[in-house]
Amino acid sequence: MEGPKEIFLKDYKLPDYYFDTVDLKFTLGEEKTIVFAKINVVPRVNGVTPPLALDGIDLKLISVKINGNELKEGDYDVDARHLILKAPPSGSFTLETVTEISPQHNTSLEGLYKSSGNFCTQCEAEGFRKITYFQDRPDIMAKYTVRIEADKSLYPVLLSNGNLIDQGDLEGGKHFAVWEDPFKKPCYLFALVAGELESRDDTFITCSGRKVDLRIWTPPQDLPKTKHAMYSLKAAMKWDEDVFGLEYDLDLFNIVAVPDFNMGAMENKSLNIFNSKLVLASPETASDADYAAILGVIGHEYFHNWTGNRVTCRDWFQLSLKEGLTVFRDQEFSSDLGSRTVKRIGDVSKLRIYQFSQDAGPMAHPVRPHSYIKMDNFYTVTVYEKGAEVVRMYKTLLGSEGFRKGTDLYFKRHDGQAVTCEDFFAAMRDANNVDFANFLLWYSQAGTPIVKVTSSYNAEARTFSLKFSQTVPPTPGQPTKEPMFIPVAMGLLDSSGKDMPLSSFYQDGKLVSITSGAQPVYTTVLRVTKAEEEFVFHDLDEKPIPSLLRGYSAPIRLHSDLTENDLFFLLAHDSDGFNRWEAGQILARKLMLNQVVNFQKDEKLVLDPQFVHGIKCILLDSSLDKEFIAKAITLPGEGEIMDMMEVADPDAVHAVRSFIRKQLALELKQEFINKVKENRSSESYEFDHVNMARRALKNTALGYLASLEDEEISELVLNEYKSATNMTDQFSALAAIAQKPGNAREEALADFYEKWQHDYLVVNKWFSLQSASDIPGNVENVKKLLNHPAFDLRNPNKVYSLIGGFCASPVNFHAKDGSGYKFLGDLVVQLDKLNPQVASRMVSAFSRWKRYDDTRQNLAKAQLEMIVCCNGLSENVFEIASKSLA
Ligand code: ARG
Ligand code: ZN
Repeated sequence: MEGPKEIFLKDYKLPDYYFDTVDLKFTLGEEKTIVFAKINVVPRVNGVTPPLALDGIDLKLISVKINGNELKEGDYDVDARHLILKAPPSGSFTLETVTEISPQHNTSLEGLYKSSGNFCTQCEAEGFRKITYFQDRPDIMAKYTVRIEADKSLYPVLLSNGNLIDQGDLEGGKHFAVWEDPFKKPCYLFALVAGELESRDDTFITCSGRKVDLRIWTPPQDLPKTKHAMYSLKAAMKWDEDVFGLEYDLDLFNIVAVPDFNMGAMENKSLNIFNSKLVLASPETASDADYAAILGVIGHEYFHNWTGNRVTCRDWFQLSLKEGLTVFRDQEFSSDLGSRTVKRIGDVSKLRIYQFSQDAGPMAHPVRPHSYIKMDNFYTVTVYEKGAEVVRMYKTLLGSEGFRKGTDLYFKRHDGQAVTCEDFFAAMRDANNVDFANFLLWYSQAGTPIVKVTSSYNAEARTFSLKFSQTVPPTPGQPTKEPMFIPVAMGLLDSSGKDMPLSSFYQDGKLVSITSGAQPVYTTVLRVTKAEEEFVFHDLDEKPIPSLLRGYSAPIRLHSDLTENDLFFLLAHDSDGFNRWEAGQILARKLMLNQVVNFQKDEKLVLDPQFVHGIKCILLDSSLDKEFIAKAITLPGEGEIMDMMEVADPDAVHAVRSFIRKQLALELKQEFINKVKENRSSESYEFDHVNMARRALKNTALGYLASLEDEEISELVLNEYKSATNMTDQFSALAAIAQKPGNAREEALADFYEKWQHDYLVVNKWFSLQSASDIPGNVENVKKLLNHPAFDLRNPNKVYSLIGGFCASPVNFHAKDGSGYKFLGDLVVQLDKLNPQVASRMVSAFSRWKRYDDTRQNLAKAQLEMIVCCNGLSENVFEIASKSLA
């Protein structure tokens, strides 16, 4: 067998052959499934007909014909990964293959597989090759017709992309359906579903007056839980028309929910397939976070219809072209339907916790990677979330109108094409006639830029200067970096806390005027493009307090010389909600780091009274949005603090964070109790910002209170649990109770399971609550839960809840005796045999092992070494484990 092969962006070549039509016929069976494929093949250059290599994995080839003539053995080669036609005829020809596959044994959940008895597919990135022999690459775009035959009673519903053009009964209790997709598409957007499903039906009238049928398919008993998904879909369709001018292009849009799915969801043309957890919701079983995730992901997959499907990627290195852009679109959609500031805080937190950490580790890669072994390993927070930040920067630089001009031009130029990140850049540039300097570096340079700012006020000259300097840290394969183009949105506050109007500033001695009609400007965007750059504001009668990187205008680490007093001032006054939150977080990080030093020196931990006061002011400020308050009083996570340390010390960070939480609870006990009492839910659950914000504040306060050893509080928390009328409140109360080991915890967990054992999505919450717990020695509990009847290693959601949850608890996963590492190491090996994609996501928890002390390093390294040496290891796990060791 050949070893893992690395694929490089620089090696991209146009295909020698295009496919223009693809006719597929599936006969689905319990023992085997037969796939007939008839492809019209066209050479790219007439008369040039080199051998044609088709990708294929786990296929049994039955026959192959060219122009109706069966090929003989010498005419082609078959190996474990390819079918090679040695001498294709000149000119266009039809290729017909018959292959046999076994979806019922496909545990990788890639290609055609079975989930809860139903057939479904997942082809992105390279799963189509597990269905039939094909040029499995996104620049091969064809029109598809698909005929499905199956047993009628077992599989009454047969779905594929596009329009249903024929259906009927067949002999032997079978039936068939024929689907035709009028749009050309790459094979990764192909989908098929067959099973016992029912649909919630609705319609949407598009801006041009066309009626679109909407159907959300689930097993019959889950149908009542699809109301919110349907609401989300209709909202997304309307939003895309209003904000991007994009209309849906077919008369039917299907969504199918399946319980076994590797990722979140998939944007197959007109037949989106979703992980059930991102479709099914009811107030009793889903939390506010679930409702919000469903809205965002339904939007995301729908938005792909234009950004991904109508305009797709030339090759997989360009993944962020569709994913970064589509994440940006779903973020904006959720912002417009909820609170912009709160959404931004959530998105930036995610970026900082996961993407910054990836960017600083062995898997660091640019938004457009230069190489991969297994593409599935590059569906990352860098490609998705940092990619979305890159798109956001275009908008920050161009403004809403300029950005829209750019996207209009992008669709006008590239509809029906497979294109690159440069094409998107060029559309933005050309539509606005602007110079974007070195902006493209955001696609090619990995690593999080570090930007330092120093400020100085000259009272005599009445000027205020901001000096920026930037560096980008080295990352694997990129030892030196060039300066990036960083848009810094900023404003200046006067001593009363009001924004000062801005009219112009000097950059490199040149006057830059800030224009915006007659309206005063309070926020402007500085363009930092060099290693060092100075901006000078003039005619200032007093020393301003700068509010920098408003709305988090670039994905960088900003270090400013703001004093603690400045930060408390911004926390109290900044008109930019994001920066108000940010000021509090910077203060909290400093405070936590100082205490970590104290802890390591065995000194007493203390909490700065000014910080308590700052938190109290935010908590009691009735002018503030309640969800904002909930975010602003939440301390940075343990991972964020560990990231800032020379050597990460999970025990110290955990001790400090717990101490501060408890101390805040002690000092603000009455205030927290009041917040709980004032914000209890009404009987009926509403998914709207006002009500979600009330619940967020109440439950955050409850979490603080539950850290106290206090009879009265224990009763309060238990009461909240018992009286809850929705999952958000019930689960938050359960989590609060579960903070401390003991009888109350055991009883509540048992009660919750008893109540919800019939609902696998709720049971998954129950798994993750326990696995992610920081109670001492939790690895033993997690091992027990592996044998719980509700657990199944073949179901990704269960693995993410139980094993993923465990790795998210720094104290237990990084336990100094190595028990957490050993647990994960053994599991990865077992899991890899079933599902390499999921195993590979799990093994990533080891990747930052070099951040820890020697003892932990050795223990983690030993597990990684054990893993890479395993026989028959998948390429997925091999890539992550070997790069982590490098
Ligand atoms: N395109 C999908 C989405 O972002 C994700 C598919 C990922 N699949 C994979 N095998 N990595 O919505
Ligand atoms: Zn996507």
